[in-house]
Amino acid sequence: MSFFNHPRIITMRMVLLSLSLFLFSFSGMIPLKAQNTMTINADQPQNKISRHIYGQFSEHLGTGMYGGLWVGEDSDIPNTDGFRDDVVEALKALEIPNLRWPGGCFADEYHWRDGIGPREDRPTRINTHWGMVEEHNEVGTHEFMRLTELLDTEPYISANVGSGTPEEMAHWVEYMTYDGNSTLANLRRENGQEKAWDVKFWGIGNESWGCGGNMEAGYYADLYRRYATFAKDYSGNELYKIASGFSDDNYGWTETVVEQAGWMMDAISLHYYTIPTGNWEQKGPSKDFGEGMYFAGLKQGLAMDEYVSRHSTIMDKYDPEKRISLAVDEWGIWTDPLPDTNPGFLQQQNSVRDALIASTTLDILNKHSDRVRLANIAQTVNVLQAMILTDGNRMLKTPTYHVFDFYRVHHDAMLLPLHLDAANYTYEGEHIPAISATASRDEAGTIHLTVTNLHATDPQEVTVNILGSDADEISESRILSADAVDAVNTFDNPDRVAPQSFEDYTLNDDELTLRLPSKSVIVIGVE
Ligand code: AHR
Repeated sequence: MSFFNHPRIITMRMVLLSLSLFLFSFSGMIPLKAQNTMTINADQPQNKISRHIYGQFSEHLGTGMYGGLWVGEDSDIPNTDGFRDDVVEALKALEIPNLRWPGGCFADEYHWRDGIGPREDRPTRINTHWGMVEEHNEVGTHEFMRLTELLDTEPYISANVGSGTPEEMAHWVEYMTYDGNSTLANLRRENGQEKAWDVKFWGIGNESWGCGGNMEAGYYADLYRRYATFAKDYSGNELYKIASGFSDDNYGWTETVVEQAGWMMDAISLHYYTIPTGNWEQKGPSKDFGEGMYFAGLKQGLAMDEYVSRHSTIMDKYDPEKRISLAVDEWGIWTDPLPDTNPGFLQQQNSVRDALIASTTLDILNKHSDRVRLANIAQTVNVLQAMILTDGNRMLKTPTYHVFDFYRVHHDAMLLPLHLDAANYTYEGEHIPAISATASRDEAGTIHLTVTNLHATDPQEVTVNILGSDADEISESRILSADAVDAVNTFDNPDRVAPQSFEDYTLNDDELTLRLPSKSVIVIGVE
C-alpha cells in the first residue's frame, strides 16, 4: 500500500477537502446554489404542440356543472343563457381548446334524449356515481353547446357505451351533426338549433374497464369497433374517434385494444391521477400539509412521463407512423375531499404544489406531443384540480388557473429540442429533478420558455443557452410563486398565489440566466 492510499491519509485528505469547500463557499468562490443548465436548439423545431393538450373536462359531478357553470336564466348571479358570466369570462381568457362532457363515469349512464326539449319535461335521474343526487337534466346537448360557444371552445362528447346502445350513440351523432332532412335533424331544429353543429371529438366509452362497464380488453375492442362503425360523418363533419384506454400502468389493455381496433380509431385515452400518498383510500389533504406531502405530490405527478412513454412505445408496435394519438383525457391531482363536503362531490383546495404538478405535467405532455395530441385536466370548476372555485356568487382563480394562463404560449407552437442538466431536489433521501421546462417557438418567431423550480426551499439559477437564434430581447416574463408549500387562494384572500412580473434574469448574447425562487414557475418570451 502506498503512502497516499493509506486509509488514515485518505481520511485526512477528505477532511481537508471538505474544510476547503466549506471555506471557499463562504468566500464566494463556490456557489452555494445548485446550478442548472439548459440548451435550446431554436432552429430545429420538432413537432407542433397541439393546443388540444390544454383541454378541460366538465362532468355532471358535484358543483362542477350545476352551481359552478350553470345557474339557470332566473338566477340572481349574472349569467348568459344560464351560464354564469364571471366563470365564463375567466375561462374564456384561458383560450380553452376543447371541453369534454358529460363525463367521466357519468357519461356511461347518460342518455342524451333526457337532455333535449323543454326543460320542465325532462326526466329526473339519479347520479349514481357522484353522491346519488338528483339529475334534472337542465344542462343537456343544447345548453352544453351554448357553453362551448360562450367559451369559444370545441366540444368533446363522451358517449355512452356502458349502458347505451350503438343506435343511441349513432342517433346522437346524427342529431347534432346532420344538416339535411331527417327526423332527428328536424327534431334538433324544433329544439332551437337550425344549423348542424361541428362536433369532431367523440369518446366511445369511458373507463370501460371500470365504471364504464367493467369489461375485458378484448370484449371492449369488439364493442369499440361495433359502436364506431355506426357513428358516421355527416354533412362534412369528420369524427375524431377516441377509444377508452386504461389508467396508469395497465399496458395490456392498450396493447389489446390498439391491436384489435386500432385501425378504426383516431386516439386512445390514458387516465392518470396524481395521488400524493399513492393510496386511493387515503390520498392526503389538499391544504394544511408540509414538505412531505408537497414532495410526494410532485414525485407522483412526474410518473406521468413513464406512463406516457410506455403506452406510446406499445402503440409504436402497431402504429409506427404515430397516426393514433394518445389522449390523456383525465389527469390532475386527486386528494381527500375537503372536510364537511359530500365525498361524492370531489371538492378539494388547490395549492401552489398543485400548480407545479400542472406545469410539470404539461411539460411532460409537451415533450411527448408527437404522440399526445389531446389532454383534459380534471376538472374545470369546483371538482378535483379545478381552474375555478365558486361559493354562491363568489369565485376565485386557483394557482392551477394561472399555470394554464402561462402555458397558452405553447398552444400550437413548435416544440424546440431542450437539453436540461438539472440539480436534484432531495427530500428524506429521495430525489426528483429541481427543474422542469418546455421551450417552443410560435408563428411570429418568439421563443417561449416555461420553467418550474420544484424545490421547496432553495432558489435555483438556470443558465439557458439559446442556439440557432438571434433573439436578444425579452418580450414577456411572469412568475407564480408562494410563501408556503401549501399556499392556496381563498375567498377572503383570492390572490395569495397570483402572477407577478418576473425580473430576475439577465440576457447576454445567446445566454439567458434565470434566478427562480423556490416553488415557482415562470413564463418568459425571447424575441
Ligand atoms: O374525474 C373523476 C372521475 O375519475 C371520472 O368520472 C372517471 O372517468 C375517473 O375515474
